[in-house]
Amino acid sequence: MSMSQTQTQYLAGPVYSPAQRAVHWLHAALVLTALPLGIVIGKAAPGTFSDATMNGLYNAHRSFGFMVLAVAVLRVAVRIANGAPAPVPTLTPLERIASTAVHHLLYVMVFLVPLLGWAGTSAYRAEITVFGLFNLPHFVAEDRELSKTILGAHGAAAMLLALLVAAHIGGALMHLVVKKDGVFRRMWPGA
Ligand code: HEM
Ligand code: HEM
Repeated sequence: MSMSQTQTQYLAGPVYSPAQRAVHWLHAALVLTALPLGIVIGKAAPGTFSDATMNGLYNAHRSFGFMVLAVAVLRVAVRIANGAPAPVPTLTPLERIASTAVHHLLYVMVFLVPLLGWAGTSAYRAEITVFGLFNLPHFVAEDRELSKTILGAHGAAAMLLALLVAAHIGGALMHLVVKKDGVFRRMWPGA
């Protein structure tokens, strides 16, 4: 079979279910909102923003961060229910191993990062409002030192998540623009 036949055949190959594609892009939008908000909060020099603005940034960050966790639960449920299409047959073994590893780590980090943020904020005893609709309960005893440690781990884990997302987006664009092998289409809404 020639290369072009293989590609043509593959370009009509299996795709993620509509529910999985919808929840992937919703999740991507939430992660790509929570991350920069966290970076601004974590890196802004003191005095850059007024207290009111800083409060708003914290509330927005916690709200979007919690939504990342909530949609992660939904997403895993949809993944268990719908499975995933078989890997694209033209992937090299390295591509298959690397992409699977990144996908699994992304699934782990979208739980770990928000849970560490929630735990650290619990230990600090700051209010955790979700878009002003309801508050999350505190599940760690009040302890400012512990809070600092947990939020340090939260920041480090979030940076690892950012690296994984960058590698993931880079890989997806490589498949779309350079390899043109149909991988991108599997997750694209119109497929
Ligand atoms: C996937 C969701 C989340 C992402 C990607 C994320 C990301 C980040 C990042 C990058 C930072 C900056 C860390 C640093 O520079 O040290 C940060 C800080 C922070 N995050 Fe999150 N976060 C998420 C969810 C949450 C949640 C759910 C909460 C609380 C309920 C939270 C509370 C905080 C707090 C309080 C800080 C400030 C830490 C400090 O003052 O050192 N985050 N987050
Ligand atoms: C905005 C840029 C993004 C693009 C272009 C993109 C693209 C894609 C594509 C094309 C696939 C299908 C891969 C395949 O067929 O094997 C995929 C899968 C996946 N994406 Fe993304 N993605 C983006 C953002 C994100 C973000 C921010 C996350 C973090 C939660 C994420 C998590 C995942 C996961 C976990 C899978 C594997 C799904 C599974 O097999 O269950 N993506 N993405």
